Amino acid sequence: MLYVCVLAVVLLVFCIGAAIVRCVNKRRRPRWGNEMRESLIGADYMPSRVLRERKADERSKKINPAELRPKEWERQVIGKGSFGMVYKAEFRGQPVAVKEVIVPNSHSKTEPGQSILRAKIRRVSTNFVDEVEMGCSCRHENLVTMLGYSAAPRMLLIIEMMTGGSIFDQLHHSKWQPSPAECLKAAFDVAQGMEYLHTHFELPVIHRDLKSANLLLLQPPASLASRSSGRVQSLSGAATLGSPGAEGLTLLVKISDFGMSRTKSAKEIEQDEVDEETPETDYMTHCGTTLWMAPEILRREKYNEMVDVYAYAMCLLELLSCRLPWHGKGGTAEVPAKVVSGERPDEQLKFRPASPSQGAHAATPARERTTGGPSPSLEAVGEQVLDSLREVVKKAWAQDSTQRDRFPAIVCELERIQTQYQAAFEKHRRTQQVSQVLLEAKSDKELWQQRMKEGSSPKMPGGWE
Ligand SMILES: Nc1ncnc2c1ncn2[C@@H]1O[C@H](COP(=O)(O)OP(=O)(O)OP(=O)(O)O)[C@@H](O)[C@H]1O
Ligand SMILES: [Mg+2]
Repeated sequence: MLYVCVLAVVLLVFCIGAAIVRCVNKRRRPRWGNEMRESLIGADYMPSRVLRERKADERSKKINPAELRPKEWERQVIGKGSFGMVYKAEFRGQPVAVKEVIVPNSHSKTEPGQSILRAKIRRVSTNFVDEVEMGCSCRHENLVTMLGYSAAPRMLLIIEMMTGGSIFDQLHHSKWQPSPAECLKAAFDVAQGMEYLHTHFELPVIHRDLKSANLLLLQPPASLASRSSGRVQSLSGAATLGSPGAEGLTLLVKISDFGMSRTKSAKEIEQDEVDEETPETDYMTHCGTTLWMAPEILRREKYNEMVDVYAYAMCLLELLSCRLPWHGKGGTAEVPAKVVSGERPDEQLKFRPASPSQGAHAATPARERTTGGPSPSLEAVGEQVLDSLREVVKKAWAQDSTQRDRFPAIVCELERIQTQYQAAFEKHRRTQQVSQVLLEAKSDKELWQQRMKEGSSPKMPGGWE
C-alpha cells in the first residue's frame, strides 16, 4: 500500500513538473525564436537592434503590442501577402491594420538549406527595417501612415486602417467599375504620392513594388456602394461622369508597402542592378508583381525610379479596363518576354467594360430618363477624360525609361485634365439648369392652357402673351 502511495506521489510530482516546464517553454518560445534567429543571421541584421541604433523619431514609434485591442486581435485576419498577415485591431482608440512580417522557416538542416534560409531571413528583416524607416520619415496624404511598430519578439507594423481595402480587391473581387472621375482621382492620388517619394527627399525613393494590391482605399468606392444599394448616384449627370462633388471626391487612394523602397544615392542608381543573389522566391517571381515590372528590371539591367512610372502605367491601365494588365494575352509566364520585346497591351487600353453606372438604366439620372436618355455631351466629356488618361498611360509605359514622363509632369498633366473636365462639367450643368427651367416653364404653360379650356381664367404667367 505504501509502495503504491509513493508511486502515485512520484507520478504526481512528475506530472506537475512536466506541466511547469511546458508552460515555461511556451512562454519563452518567442525569445528563443529571436535568439535562434540572431545566431543564424547575426546581431547586425536583427531589426530590434538596428532600429534601436537609429533616430529617436523611429524609437518614439515603438509600441508595446499589449496595447493592441482586443487581446485576441489575431483572430481578425483582413489580408495575406507574400511576407505575412494583416489583421484588424484597435490601437489607442483608433482602428488600425496590424501587419505581421512572418519570419521564414525551414526544416532543412543541410548547409545549402541553412544558407538560403539565412538569406531569406536577412532580406525579410532588412525589408522590415526599411519599412519602419520609411514609415517614420514619410508624411503625405497619399501614403499610408505608419502609427507604430514592434520589432521583437514579433515584427509588427501598425498602419492606419484603410477600410476600402486594395484597388486590386475592389476591381477584381468586388467588380468595381470606376467612373471616369474616379479613374482621374485615383490616378491623381497615386501620382501625387509617387511625386512625393521621388522628389521630396534628397535622393529619390523608389517604391519598386507599385501595384494595385499596394494601392489602398480609405473607404469603399461610393460608386460601388450606390450600385449595390441600387441607388441612383446623383443628379446633374454625376452618375455618368462623376461630378467633382460626387463619387470622385470621396475616393482617397494611398500607397502602401515601403518595404522594398530604398533611398538611392546617385552612385547607387548608376550601379544598381537586380540583386543577383536574390533567391528566386516571393516577390521576384510573384506573378502578381511581374505584371507591373518594367522591362529594365525583367532584363536585370540597371534601373532607377522610372520603374515606378512604368508600374504606374500598369495600375492606370487596370483602372481604365477593370482587368489585370495583359488580360487575354496569354499566361503570366509569357508576359516578361512580351514586355522585354517592347510589346504593350494596346488593345486592353482601348477596352472599357459596359459600366452599370454608365449604361444601366438604374444609374441614369432620373430627369434624363424622362427626357430621352443620358446626355450625349456628358458621356463625351467622360470619354475625353478616359482618352486623356490613356495618353498618360502610353507615355508612362515607354520601353526607353528616359522617354517616360516623370511624376511631376504626370501630376501637371492630370491637373490640366481635371481643369478641362471641371469646365466641361460646369458647362453641362448650366445647360441642364437652363433646360430644366424651360421644361418647367413648358409644363406651366400647358397647365395654364388646360385651365383656360376648362373655363377658369387664371392670371397668365409673364412673358407668354
Ligand atoms: N492598412 C491597411 N488597411 C486595410 N487593409 C490592408 C492594409 N494593409 C493591407 N491590407 C490588406 O491586406 C492585404 C495584404 O497586404 P500585403 O501588403 O501583406 O500583401 P500584398 O500587397 O497583397 O502582396 P505582397 O505581399 O506581394 O506585397 C492587402 O491586399 C489589403 O487587402
Ligand atoms: Mg501590400
